[in-house]
Amino acid sequence: WKRFLQATGSITLVTLAGGGAFYYYAQKDKTPGPQLPHDPSKKTLVICGSGWGATSLLNSLETEDYNVIVISPKNYFLFTPLLPSVAVGTISPRSILQPTRYVTRHKKRQVTVIEASATDVDPVNKTVTFADTSEIQGAVSNTTIPYDYLVFAVGAEVQTFNIPGVREHACFMKELEDAEKMQRRFMDCMESAAFPGQTSDEVKRLLHMVVVGGGPTGVELSGELHDFLEEDLRSWYPELAESVRITLVEALPSVLPSFSKQLIDYTESTFKEAKIDILTKTMVKEVKEKSVVLQMPDKSIVEVPCGLVVWAAGNTLRNVTRDLMAKLPEAQNNRRGITVDECMRMAGTDGSIFAVGDCTATTYAPTAQVASQQGAYLARVLGQLAKRDNLEYRLNELDAAPEAEKQEREQAEKRLAKLEKLRPFKYSHQGSLAYIGSDKAIADLPFFNGNLATGGVATFLFWRSAYLSTLFSMRNRTLVATDWLKVKFFGRDVSRE
Ligand code: FAD
Ligand code: NAI
Repeated sequence: WKRFLQATGSITLVTLAGGGAFYYYAQKDKTPGPQLPHDPSKKTLVICGSGWGATSLLNSLETEDYNVIVISPKNYFLFTPLLPSVAVGTISPRSILQPTRYVTRHKKRQVTVIEASATDVDPVNKTVTFADTSEIQGAVSNTTIPYDYLVFAVGAEVQTFNIPGVREHACFMKELEDAEKMQRRFMDCMESAAFPGQTSDEVKRLLHMVVVGGGPTGVELSGELHDFLEEDLRSWYPELAESVRITLVEALPSVLPSFSKQLIDYTESTFKEAKIDILTKTMVKEVKEKSVVLQMPDKSIVEVPCGLVVWAAGNTLRNVTRDLMAKLPEAQNNRRGITVDECMRMAGTDGSIFAVGDCTATTYAPTAQVASQQGAYLARVLGQLAKRDNLEYRLNELDAAPEAEKQEREQAEKRLAKLEKLRPFKYSHQGSLAYIGSDKAIADLPFFNGNLATGGVATFLFWRSAYLSTLFSMRNRTLVATDWLKVKFFGRDVSRE
């Protein structure tokens, strides 16, 4: 009894302490304190975007150094790695959003958040023009502001290669609304297939889901669709589940070309077991309302009926990025994106524009990992530049000062010389992870000086814990963990919104 009481007492104490700490941090998050107002003597830092690069910068930035203005058409940060889970209802859409104001309201100095799309950047006059592109607009919906420093982090958009019918008939998997649209269409296909009197050919067509692009997005989405089918649809649509088919189409000889060979093989065999068809060396040539047109490995053209097409064929630049690059034609001639130097300064500018993430053309892959490290790096650079600018200002004051201040002047000049040197950005690769369905994930992890390639259920648990810890806030972590538990207990929701 004594031991039992001791054990129960310890458990109660730990639970109370944990609960108390959780409550304290949640309340702290919920009730931000007062902030310093904008200071006209500080420089203006404009950040375009609220994605991985921009949010990581905002998280690490000392905002007392600048008057910061964030411009983005989305007033939130989207945790893209879990977007395919939203598309099948494993995770609720709001669980992976972090409103930008939740980040900025905790900073020391006020940050202005503007929900708008940057439409033009003038690198000579140092201005940004932006427009409110949302449904509801006020009397003013277009304006131009000056900047001292600009961080360009607008990401990329979906690459369609101008293939006919893609924009009209396919769903994308890039933004939150893409995942929501896909979920609605998927359930619409199920319900239309359940409509009385449907022919068996039409049922087969409606229940054929085609995912285009065997990169990580396409693979993860196919895995999630399979889980939805096996774990939920079999229970709620027993008469239809057998007819659901998932086909992944990839133009290259294999899926996941950026992963190690053994993980590619593992993914392909897992998909085979899961009855997900992979068509490699096959290119989508057209998307029609009720079919996709494929060029097969032998170059023959085949039209395949389907109910849903999800397009995950990679990235291309946004128009605002192309327009900005076109203003600096000599320095900006890489079709993949903005050319930056080793300190993320846009080539061809005077060092006042920085660019990070998917809108840049660097030696790194366009991933969240790269964008967030670049964002955190820029926070350090901007901190250093603020110190340098302050020192320069002080040196100007000392110009007019008497000889007695000579020593301070010499020291300030020495410090200034140090601050002029910026340390280049260094990427530290933490590994690549992808979920492949059936409670399995794959991971290529740096291991000593080599690579550890691993796949399976244990890797899936690692994948979950890695993403849970990468989420930006305790709120997101709690919501995502709760969603996973909800699905474990009650399954996914099959109602169509
Ligand atoms: P984004 O995060 O896309 O942010 C761009 C921001 O700019 C957005 O806030 C957008 O609203 C805003 N914006 C757009 N237009 C304008 C404009 N005109 N003016 C101002 N703002 C604008 N990478 C990984 O490393 N691991 C993963 O597991 C992973 N999973 C992914 C899953 C999916 C489904 C997708 C689509 C991508 C995934 N990625 C992953 C890639 C990763 O999301 C991107 O590399 C990352 O988002 C790039 O960050 P970014 O800041 O450059 O752009
Ligand atoms: P991607 O560029 O990696 O893959 C797109 C694939 O589509 C390519 O393999 C391409 O050959 C194929 N394709 C293009 N046109 C086609 C056509 N007409 N027909 C058939 N196939 C066609 O794009 P994805 O997957 O969206 O990823 C974008 C970036 O985001 C990558 O850098 C990726 O590493 C990163 N990402 C990382 C994830 C992870 O680490 N888990 C998850 C999702 C994305």
